[in-house]
Amino acid sequence: MCGIIGYSGISSAAPVLIDGLKKLEYRGYDSFGIATIGDRIEVFKKQGRISTGVAGARTLPGTTGIGHTRWATHGVPDDKNAHPHVDCTGTIAIVHNGIIENYHELRKQLVARGHRFSSDTDTEVIVHLLEEEYHGDLLEAFKCAIPHLHGSYALLAIAEGDERIVAARQNSPLVVGIADQAVYAASDMTPLLQYTQNVVYLQDGDLATLSPGQLLVWNNGVPACRPIEKIEWTVEQVKKGGFAHYMQKEIFEQPEVFSDTIRTLRREEIPSRILREKAVTLVACGTSYHAGMVFKYLAEERCGIPVRIEIASEFKYYPSPTRDLVIGITQSGETADTLAALKQARAYQSPTLAVTNVLGSTITRTADHTLYMGAGPEISVAATKSFIAELAVLLHLVDAISRGELTKSLDGVNRAMEQVLLSSMDRAVDLCSEAAHIFFVGRGPFYPVALEGALKMKEISYIHAEGYAAGEIKHGPFALLSPRTPAVGLCFPGETYPVMVSNLKEMKARGVPLIVLGQEGDLDLEEFADVFIPLPEGDSVQHIFGATVALQLLAYHTAVRLKREIDTPRNLAKSVTVE
Ligand code: G6P
Repeated sequence: MCGIIGYSGISSAAPVLIDGLKKLEYRGYDSFGIATIGDRIEVFKKQGRISTGVAGARTLPGTTGIGHTRWATHGVPDDKNAHPHVDCTGTIAIVHNGIIENYHELRKQLVARGHRFSSDTDTEVIVHLLEEEYHGDLLEAFKCAIPHLHGSYALLAIAEGDERIVAARQNSPLVVGIADQAVYAASDMTPLLQYTQNVVYLQDGDLATLSPGQLLVWNNGVPACRPIEKIEWTVEQVKKGGFAHYMQKEIFEQPEVFSDTIRTLRREEIPSRILREKAVTLVACGTSYHAGMVFKYLAEERCGIPVRIEIASEFKYYPSPTRDLVIGITQSGETADTLAALKQARAYQSPTLAVTNVLGSTITRTADHTLYMGAGPEISVAATKSFIAELAVLLHLVDAISRGELTKSLDGVNRAMEQVLLSSMDRAVDLCSEAAHIFFVGRGPFYPVALEGALKMKEISYIHAEGYAAGEIKHGPFALLSPRTPAVGLCFPGETYPVMVSNLKEMKARGVPLIVLGQEGDLDLEEFADVFIPLPEGDSVQHIFGATVALQLLAYHTAVRLKREIDTPRNLAKSVTVE
């Protein structure tokens, strides 16, 4: 989604804002802009990435300002739709993350009252509403304008002649960083870390003013006290540390992330209510949904409890009437669909559990309980270490419910991943980088691993990739098989090994070039695969993690070969805070 930033301090605001936007770019990057308070409101905004053509922005005067990096929802990505937006007089500027659902109606009313619009965005209605209510005090204008807005927003605004930033939050994240002589606001804590570890999470309905060294908050018209929390993440964690891309760094961090997460979880107590649940429903999106699918296979097998998994955006509108434990999985803790699904579950009076990576994120206030993944900041848009950390949390849960069924397996996961990190992907990349379509197939818990492998491939290489349950491939996709459609098969010892081998051989018979991931020493696989990627000996849990890492590397190296923009793939955003 979009990223917003605000700064009010004693240094020049523009460089701080630009630097912050660069760190937020993974939230959206089709255009950007900043506004500062000089003698008047100064605005610089532009289509494209922040790295291109930022020179003009750095010289904007003033020590207070706001900025935005955009992921378009209303209006194409171009200069005029870039934020900040200003009112008709050019004396108020605003940046917004979220969606104003009733903007169409508001826009009609504002145009009828004589306002001139210069963009196609939903956001612009807010600044014209503020203009109507502004009589020298921006905070008072907010109090009058906000009740007209339906939807989600994290807002920052400035006005000529005022040294404050006014902020508002509703269903969209907004964090404030407090330093000695400056206050920062941002969509998440990544751009704040270099300045301070003291943060305040604004809550829904909050209105706030930020001025050097001071944050004041109101909710429902009355002053509100928001605790200052200390964040543990460090600046080093958000740097590339010698790797070519954040994605590569994050893939290589996975063994450590896994161990840290498991170690921390083993010290924590899971509420006994959760351990006693007889059925579980999971809600999630994207990569987190795939982590939930792995949980389903293992929890049903090892704990004997029925598990249902729902795509969060479907569950909100078509919920299953359930009183089961509902687990919302979301690394960011801010995905709108997952939040909405969890709220829906609460309406059914289901107990709820959040699995997230971000301390204080919205889902932690929505769910009854939270389990943190502790993956540290993940900058690359494609989720890698957060997926591994989600699996760590979910499989720890299986272990706890089943009273130790997975303890031994989990203890061997680290070694499995470390070995896979050393694998060469060259020959597999030769096949994939030439292809227009790739199939990924697996059975049982390797089916979601195949789905995740395909998702990584399409996200960052832009090659069309489909994940399939291997048995399903005959029901349609067979029509597409040819020597130009490589397939990646996940084939590990276990009950489904023989059928999986047959499925792969059926594909081979149609001329499909096969990349097969299997256990080292499997001479059969080695013989018929075009490329065999051996994983260390282990059990199915260890192979799930090893295969995940191998497929992340395959996607990564294919995208590098194709010279893609690895960390910020086109049209995607790390955190999708709108429905
Ligand atoms: C976006 C990201 C994906 C992520 C999904 C769910 O689409 O690009 O990588 O899996 O959101 O995010 P969440 O924060 O809820 O896990």
